[in-house]
Amino acid sequence: MSDKIAWGILGLGRIAHKFARDLTLVKGAVLQAVASSSQERADAFAKEHKANTAYGKYESLYLDPLIQVVYIASVHVDHAPQSLAALEAGKAVLCEKPMGINAQEVKAMMALAKAKKVFLMEAFWTRFNPAMLEVKRQIEQGRIGDLRHVQASFAMPRWNDDPSGRLLNLTKGGGSLLDIGVYPVFLAYLLLGKPNKILATANFNDQGTETQSSIIFSYPKTQAQLYSSLTHPFTMEAKIYGEKGELTIAPTWHESEALSWKIGDTITQEQFPKKGKGYVHEIEEVHHCLNNNMLESEQWSLKDSLNLIELMDQIRKKVGVVYSQDKSV
Ligand SMILES: NC(=O)c1ccc[n+]([C@@H]2O[C@H](COP(=O)([O-])OP(=O)(O)OC[C@H]3O[C@@H](n4cnc5c(N)ncnc54)[C@H](OP(=O)(O)O)[C@@H]3O)[C@@H](O)[C@H]2O)c1
Repeated sequence: MSDKIAWGILGLGRIAHKFARDLTLVKGAVLQAVASSSQERADAFAKEHKANTAYGKYESLYLDPLIQVVYIASVHVDHAPQSLAALEAGKAVLCEKPMGINAQEVKAMMALAKAKKVFLMEAFWTRFNPAMLEVKRQIEQGRIGDLRHVQASFAMPRWNDDPSGRLLNLTKGGGSLLDIGVYPVFLAYLLLGKPNKILATANFNDQGTETQSSIIFSYPKTQAQLYSSLTHPFTMEAKIYGEKGELTIAPTWHESEALSWKIGDTITQEQFPKKGKGYVHEIEEVHHCLNNNMLESEQWSLKDSLNLIELMDQIRKKVGVVYSQDKSV
């Protein structure tokens, strides 16, 4: 395989711009083409980020023989159908979180990737960031002993957003849970696995969109207190308590570079700088996998993505968040 990897980006919104900037920092990455529902937006994006080709139709990207891997950066409800189309065309896929609306969609994506023998990964960038790698490594090594409590939230004031926009519109998979609730649930899952019991409660706006949710994951000797909200600003630090000490992941914890360990009276601060905005690390993981003919990441496997969305399904069931995609389940 050549040492260059030709990327296509689909859905040219906010995250696509950040991703394209970080792509320039990854050795061997080439932004071959971008695709939007608007030719004008595609042209402007291609000009800004120096993509070789700009498509005004998503389908054209799947058919471009020069593209090796497609980054799906569209709204939640389109992740599965667009990933399936790209996989069907034989393209490797890096799909934004949540990988699908529900476990049924994620299972279909996994099955097609397997049948076609093409790479698929959820763009769960936090998993690959240097500080998070250290959190996982050092906790597994027992730095703060067996875990007793995890506290993580993700909240931002977006209740005044356009109700037809992706965050508040139910038909686009709106609500706090699938957009940002996935992060605290991810942290508990990463450190503790699947819980024995889940408790959850939610509030909804006048349009019936879930705006905030509190979740408790219960394990035999540990509890995780998780929260997501679109209703107010929040200091986003995460706390992890063990038998021997505690860890604070400094705000904003899901993209943090700073860890603070407290063992007895001793506090140790550690810094783990990210490359670029932080998306470099997930892109490097995709390159590592493609260059080694791997069909999935070992760090954030397809089983991990499935486990995560199954947890989200269970939480949504408990609080009563239903999308049209669930009806066939
Ligand atoms: N990893 C992260 O840090 C991170 C951060 C933010 C968001 N995300 C994820 O990335 C995805 C995109 O988020 P974003 O903030 O970039 O959203 P955004 O700015 O609204 O962009 C989404 C893009 O999807 C396309 N789209 C297709 N149909 C649409 C519709 N009916 N309504 C709105 N957009 C539609 C549009 O692309 P075209 O106009 O080009 O067709 C739009 O620009 C989400 O799934 C989100 O969960 C990840």
